[in-house]
Amino acid sequence: MAFSQTLTTLFIFSLLSFSYAASGPPKLPKPKVMHFSIRKNETTLQYYVSYDSGYPDSPTIIDALIDLGAPSVWFDCTSYISSSYKRASCGSNRCKKAKGLSCIGCNSTPKPGCSNNTCGVFVYNPARDYSSVQELGEDTMRVYAIEGAYVWFDYEVPKFQFACADSVTAERLPGDHTKGLVGFARTEISLPSQISSAFKLAKKFALCLPSSNALGLGDIFIGGGPYYMLPSIEDQSLSLVSTPLVVNPTGTPRFQSDGQLSNQYFINLKSIEISGKHVAFSPALLSFDKNGVGGTKISTTVPYTILHSSIYKSLVKDFIKEASLNKIKRVQSVAPFGACFDSKTVANTITGPAVPNIDLVLEGSTVRMRLYGANSMVEAKKNVICLAFIDGGVQPTTSIVLGGHQLENYILEFDLTASKLGLSSSLLLQNTSCSQSRFDIQAMCAVSTFPCQPPPPQETEGLSPLFLIVEGEAAAYAGDQFGVDSLVLLPPP
Ligand SMILES: *[C@@H]1O[C@H](CO)[C@@H](O)[C@H](O)[C@H]1NC(C)=O
Ligand SMILES: *[C@@H]1O[C@H](CO)[C@@H](O)[C@H](O)[C@H]1NC(C)=O
Ligand SMILES: *[C@@H]1O[C@H](CO)[C@@H](O)[C@H](O)[C@H]1NC(C)=O
Repeated sequence: MAFSQTLTTLFIFSLLSFSYAASGPPKLPKPKVMHFSIRKNETTLQYYVSYDSGYPDSPTIIDALIDLGAPSVWFDCTSYISSSYKRASCGSNRCKKAKGLSCIGCNSTPKPGCSNNTCGVFVYNPARDYSSVQELGEDTMRVYAIEGAYVWFDYEVPKFQFACADSVTAERLPGDHTKGLVGFARTEISLPSQISSAFKLAKKFALCLPSSNALGLGDIFIGGGPYYMLPSIEDQSLSLVSTPLVVNPTGTPRFQSDGQLSNQYFINLKSIEISGKHVAFSPALLSFDKNGVGGTKISTTVPYTILHSSIYKSLVKDFIKEASLNKIKRVQSVAPFGACFDSKTVANTITGPAVPNIDLVLEGSTVRMRLYGANSMVEAKKNVICLAFIDGGVQPTTSIVLGGHQLENYILEFDLTASKLGLSSSLLLQNTSCSQSRFDIQAMCAVSTFPCQPPPPQETEGLSPLFLIVEGEAAAYAGDQFGVDSLVLLPPP
């Protein structure tokens, strides 16, 4: 069997080689959706991405913190070596596009991150609450396309813009080997903006934050759907509900330490309900005042949602009341949380501990984000689960900052053209999650034992995304790579 397959493969390969002789090797097909995997570190409670930078000699792997609200991509350039690196000079078009702030110089030996007459851009390290102006540079980065549920070929982004930062800026970035940060804010030099424009994809990206890495990694999709979260075979992009993304209308551009509020992602939260009952607090906190203070923002660097004190107090009080109606036993609180319970008095469900649901009611006729126990509670110690919200004091800049724990296992699609947020229901309801082991086709097909072979002759319509049929330009490219004229990827054994 293996022998005859090898023969077939070789046979097709020679035909393909022959037909390409005139036109040269096939080009990579135009990608539709780009993808990065998200790792969660359960100590730092932060989310990370890795990518290759620098080409062709030896790319550097950059481990970077994901920051939804940050304007740029940056990493510590101290030991960065790449022959394809180029800095941006002051006043250049690149500098204008990146909203360069000043012209910077350097007194030491010239290298990436040290040059004169160079465009400086704003970078922020949330772990130190430290901002600085660093050299704008560009280099080739590599990104993978996704087909159905599978990771496909890698593509080069030849002029990826980032800030080449000094080591002081990168100090205390949380996690192991973290060299930098990738920003997703509404700027031209954020990660998704650059990838969308490099491949002419829709100005859309989606995040699926994992609660743990035990069963697989989370996803960043750039360019739109489909979003397949196996074992579910539904395309999740078809069932998102949407709410407007609102721009914080700070009159005079106001720089906070973490950048400009108007570049960050706010939504219009209209009320909060616990088991369908309204939580009372001043509605004025949900809109912006003339300085951009107030409202509801989405953040990936805040581990637990932070609430204005008056919202927090009402939420905790009402939650305790509902929990006691459900015979859930309250126990002593574990800091920083305000309401903790004996987990032995709570049943377990596919959506986590069976506690009262918390609904975030959003703008749009029927849009609500329902938080079940998996997103509203956290295990603070053995047999103790706590309401996973934090008191943000009486004068926070933003009244509600939705944090990572509350966003895990939902798909959040940021559509920048339509200015709306698409939201799935909790993936846990469908027995799936954001922890996905996505097969890397390139790696799989390189292993001869993997069933990466010409498609079966029978009807291919109606196959689930567990099957991948590669046709057209992609097949020509695959043929060149793997020596077959088209591929079918069978479900894993
Ligand atoms: C920048 O200019 C100064 C003054 O001319 C010079 O001493 C320094 O070496 C230059 N730095 C680099 C990186 O070329
Ligand atoms: C997570 O971060 C902590 C603190 O920086 C580090 O000690 C740990 O090794 C990290 N874990 C992983 C899996 O990277
Ligand atoms: C999820 O799994 C449970 C038990 O394995 C099963 O009873 C339930 O029907 C499944 N739900 C869905 C939506 O697949």
